[in-house]
Amino acid sequence: MAKDLLVEYEGKPCYEIKIRDSFSELLPAMLHLNLNAARRVCIVTDSNVSKLYLSEVASILSEGFSEVKTFEFPEGESSKNLSVVEKLYGELIKWRFDRNDLLIALGGGVTGDMTGFAAATYLRGIDFIQIPTTLLSQVDSSIGGKTGVDYMQYKNMVGAFYMPKLVFINTSVLKTLPNEQFASGMAEVIKHGLIRNKIYYKWLRDNFQKINDKDPETLEIMIFESCQVKKEVVENDPTEKGERAVLNFGHTIGHAIEKLSDFSLYHGQCVAKGSVCSAYISYKRGYISMEDYMQIVDTFEEFNLDTTIDTKLDVETIIETTKSDKKMVGDKIKFVTLHGIGRAYLDMDVSDEEMLYSIANAMGLSVDGEGI
Ligand SMILES: NC(=O)c1ccc[n+]([C@@H]2O[C@H](COP(=O)([O-])OP(=O)(O)OC[C@H]3O[C@@H](n4cnc5c(N)ncnc54)[C@H](O)[C@@H]3O)[C@@H](O)[C@H]2O)c1
Ligand SMILES: [Zn+2]
Repeated sequence: MAKDLLVEYEGKPCYEIKIRDSFSELLPAMLHLNLNAARRVCIVTDSNVSKLYLSEVASILSEGFSEVKTFEFPEGESSKNLSVVEKLYGELIKWRFDRNDLLIALGGGVTGDMTGFAAATYLRGIDFIQIPTTLLSQVDSSIGGKTGVDYMQYKNMVGAFYMPKLVFINTSVLKTLPNEQFASGMAEVIKHGLIRNKIYYKWLRDNFQKINDKDPETLEIMIFESCQVKKEVVENDPTEKGERAVLNFGHTIGHAIEKLSDFSLYHGQCVAKGSVCSAYISYKRGYISMEDYMQIVDTFEEFNLDTTIDTKLDVETIIETTKSDKKMVGDKIKFVTLHGIGRAYLDMDVSDEEMLYSIANAMGLSVDGEGI
C-alpha cells in the first residue's frame, strides 16, 4: 500500500513524501511536480549505492528528461565536505546546468545532506529531490530541509535550510542495507516513539521481530509513522528555534560518544547510548518510572543497539565534549528529557552531576551507591 505525506513549510504546502516499495512511480511523481522546465537532471550518489541502484534510477529518469548526468563520490562521512561539493559545482558548470535543472540525491544521509547543500548554493539555489536509501535517511535526514557538510573536524558546521521538491522513499532498497546500518536507523525510529507517540512506541515493541526481519508491510507502516513524527516536529519549528530541539533526544551525550569514539560507532549506535542516559536522568527526576526506564533499555537492545558505554571512555571527557556541541545556550546545555513515554521536553537545568550518574550507570559503574 502506497502512502503519501504532505510537508508544510511556514503554513504552506511544500513537498510530498512518497512511500513506495519500488521505483516504478518515481518518474510520474517527478513529472507531477510541474518541473516541466527541468530539462536535465544530475543524480548524485555514493560508490556503494551507485553499484546497487544507479543504473535502474538513471534508466527510469532517461524516459522523462532530456539528459541524465551522474556524479559519484566515495561512500562515507569523510566525503561530506566542501571539496566534494566543489567537484560537483565544477561538473555542473561544465555541463552548463542552470536554474531549470535538477539535482537528485540517491543515497543515505551523507548524499542527501551534501546534494541538498550543493542545490541550495549552486546559482543561489536549484531544485533538488531526495531519494533516501538508508533507514536513517528515510525517516530522518531527508525530511526537514537541513542540508550541509562537515568542515575540518566540525560536523555539519556549514549548511543551509533548503527544502527538497520531493522525498521519494523506496522501502525495498533496505534489503541491501547492512544490518548494523539498519539498527542505526532504528535508534531514530525508537526516538520518534519516545518523544512524541506512546502508541507507536508500543507498536514498535510489539512488532520487533517483524521489523528486524525487515517484513515489507511492517517496514512501510513504521517508516510512515516515523516520517509523520518528523514532519510534525519540523512543521512546527522549521528552523530549530524551539520545539525541533526535541529531535535531539539522546543526541547530547550520543554526539559526545560519537566524537570520542572517532566515528568508529554509527550515529544511531551512539544515539541509543545517549537516549538511555537521558531516560535514566528522566527516571531519577521522577518523570518516568523505573519500569519505563528498564523497558527503554530493553527496546534499544531488542533492535540490536547496545546501550552500554565503554569504560575506556572517560566520564568527565564525555561531559566536557557535550559542551562543545551546538546544543548550548550561553553556558546552559539544551538537554531533552522524557516527562512520560511519548512526551519529550527541553530541560535547561540538567547538571553535570546528573549526566555523570547516567553515564556511569551505562558503564555499569556504581557512583556513591547511585545506580538503578
Ligand atoms: N539533515 C538532517 O536533518 C540529518 C539528520 C540526521 C542525520 N544526518 C546526517 O546523515 C548522515 C548519516 O546518514 P546515513 O546513516 O544514511 O549515512 P550514509 O549516507 O553514509 O549511508 C551509510 C552507508 O550505507 C550505504 N548505503 C546507503 N544505502 C544503501 C542501501 N540501500 N543498501 C546498501 N548500502 C547502502 C552507504 O553507501 C554508506 O556506506 C550524517 O552525515 C548525519 O550528519 C542529517
Ligand atoms: Zn540523529
